[in-house]
Amino acid sequence: MNMKKIICVVGTRPEAIKMAPVIQHLSKEPWAEVKVLATAQHRQMLDQVLKLFKIEPDRDLNVMEPNQTLTSLTSKLLSELDTVFKEELPDAVLAQGDTTTVMTVALCCFYHRIPFGHVEAGLRTGDIWNPYPEEMNRVVAGRLAKWHFAPTEGARQNLLREGIAEETIHLTGNTVIDALLSVSKESDALDMAIGHDKRLILVTSHRRENFGEPFKEICRAILYLVEKNPDIEVLYPVHPNPNIQAVAHSLLGNNPRIRLCEPLDYLPFVTAMKKAYLILSDSGGVQEEAPALAKPVLVLRRETERPEAVEHGVVKLVGTDFEAIVSEAQRLLDDPEYYSQMAKGVSPYGDGFASERITQVLKRALS
Ligand code: UD1
Ligand code: UDP
Repeated sequence: MNMKKIICVVGTRPEAIKMAPVIQHLSKEPWAEVKVLATAQHRQMLDQVLKLFKIEPDRDLNVMEPNQTLTSLTSKLLSELDTVFKEELPDAVLAQGDTTTVMTVALCCFYHRIPFGHVEAGLRTGDIWNPYPEEMNRVVAGRLAKWHFAPTEGARQNLLREGIAEETIHLTGNTVIDALLSVSKESDALDMAIGHDKRLILVTSHRRENFGEPFKEICRAILYLVEKNPDIEVLYPVHPNPNIQAVAHSLLGNNPRIRLCEPLDYLPFVTAMKKAYLILSDSGGVQEEAPALAKPVLVLRRETERPEAVEHGVVKLVGTDFEAIVSEAQRLLDDPEYYSQMAKGVSPYGDGFASERITQVLKRALS
């Protein structure tokens, strides 16, 4: 059989979560020789996920530096990827999402004329500064991909509007739902004394455009909500980015009903989402997962490239303004009818079969 070498690249936590089901599916195909390349744009958070899904990278670029800049990360990645692609000569390369890893992989594939498949293609806000730099990363990846695996019809339409050929776009659903469903069965114990006799608010935040004053506003709003509502507790696994760590600990570190912790493994994090009454987050993945678990999310951003859950009324954009965060959260805490409208389970991002569809497209094209 004429085997085809496919390199699957993972750099950060969400890429590993969303690529794991693709790697697992493709690896079962007799025609595919799957190699996993970790750029390790994230180190600890990537390893957490790879361990859970039992994925051992064939190559590891180990590029992460503390407080890395976009320019140094980009240049390091390009030069390291260049060497790998020259040595491995893959038939195709896959990467997921909109990180610096993905943008550099797409560009390096272009330089080497290697077909590139973009998983989670077509997400757009239309504003290159929001989210920054992710919107530009996905525009670049979208311009260079041979296969566009769009999670939703809206994403497919975004690509068509940019002049991408229809036959190269494949509506697959988002692989995050494949990952969520696969771990969700196992996640029932959260090894933490929290959320037993109080309502749990789960928080995550890491976006670059929120660094500085917007992130401080978020923290002040959380503190105010906790002080005003004796029946709530906050669990906040703090992203290791130094711009987030210092502020989170100094503003939120001293309240007994606010638990700051290290990033959780995916399994306990899914359990925490299930236990949560409400989620405050600027994460992309959480906006996709929480609706499937019937948990309302207040998104700490001005714009989102994931409008589907907002249209279903289960996710609300509140931005980073103190008043907006406090009033929306308080309404959800006080008004059971409003709460139940936002806590209805919908899954506009996938049905758990996205990786299978991606595998079938590649099989038709390559085997
Ligand atoms: C990156 C992605 C962002 C994605 C996010 C997911 C870019 C530009 N940003 O943002 O799109 O939403 O990952 O979390 O690609 N760090 C650690 N250990 C880790 C991970 C990060 O110490 O396991 C610290 C390091 O100091 C590192 C810093 O966080 O330099 C920033 O990491 P980086 O990948 O540049 O940015 P993120 O904010 O994580
Ligand atoms: N997540 C996790 N542990 C945590 C926080 C988040 O496993 O402590 C998961 C979450 O369920 C989602 C993904 O990480 O699948 C989102 O990653 P992140 O918010 O870092 O990136 P984004 O999705 O915004 O790119």
